[in-house]
Amino acid sequence: MIVLLIGFSAFANLLPLQSGLEMQKPTHNEYPLHPLLKARWSPRAFDSRPIDSDQILSLFEAARWSPSGGNNQPWGFVLFTAEDGDARRQIEDALTGNNREWAPRAPLLVLAVALPHPSKGGIGPYSYYDLGQAVAHLTVQATSLGLFVHQMAGFEASKARQAAGLPDHVEPMVVMAIGHYGDIANLPEALRARELALRVRKPIAEFVFQARWGQPINLVTAPVSSPSQIPS
Ligand SMILES: Cc1cc2nc3c(=O)[nH]c(=O)nc-3n(C[C@H](O)[C@H](O)[C@H](O)COP(=O)(O)O)c2cc1C
Repeated sequence: MIVLLIGFSAFANLLPLQSGLEMQKPTHNEYPLHPLLKARWSPRAFDSRPIDSDQILSLFEAARWSPSGGNNQPWGFVLFTAEDGDARRQIEDALTGNNREWAPRAPLLVLAVALPHPSKGGIGPYSYYDLGQAVAHLTVQATSLGLFVHQMAGFEASKARQAAGLPDHVEPMVVMAIGHYGDIANLPEALRARELALRVRKPIAEFVFQARWGQPINLVTAPVSSPSQIPS
């Protein structure tokens, strides 16, 4: 039987106001977690200062070394910075909902696209699976560089296609806002509250099973009983 903690969301819903590089959004993990995974989160308050070119290349080096089915690497990325003028304005215009309010401040917007898997004859589930994994690698690398990544499905695909001049055989999946953490005071009030809201997750017991779907896992661990004992 697994012993799970009840999350802390029930008794704490806002973080103390912080801004600047040191902005941390606690990950209330119940079991040990690598510091880079613990530090990653998706902010909306970006600083507009540009990212060093070698850091940008390092992000895509991380994506490059991600595993993929048959080593097909069915991913592609189109970068948009302030220097890209009209194309940058077009990708910003492709964003929908409140993504339009915060994401344009990020110095780097990246359109991530899925490519066909050669063996499958087109874009299939493993195109999406592999692209997602490459982006996951990229987010961890970004964290190691003190950068933040916020993925967005909230964009109009046809406008993004137009902005990037995408060929028909590739499929846009997300736009990513990437940059350093900025000043929360620049966010509209409604988004400021979301920026400060606690991060929550389903308990492990809801999605990990033993031998049969729905069957509790057969592991016994020492419970962590107070926030001061949360493992890093
Ligand atoms: C595929 C995907 C699409 C997302 N789309 C949006 C989006 O359009 N707008 C937004 O504000 N956040 C978006 N997010 C961010 C998620 O809301 C966020 O990752 C989730 O709430 C967990 O928060 P965390 O990343 O800080 O742990 C998206 C994330 C993913 C992976």
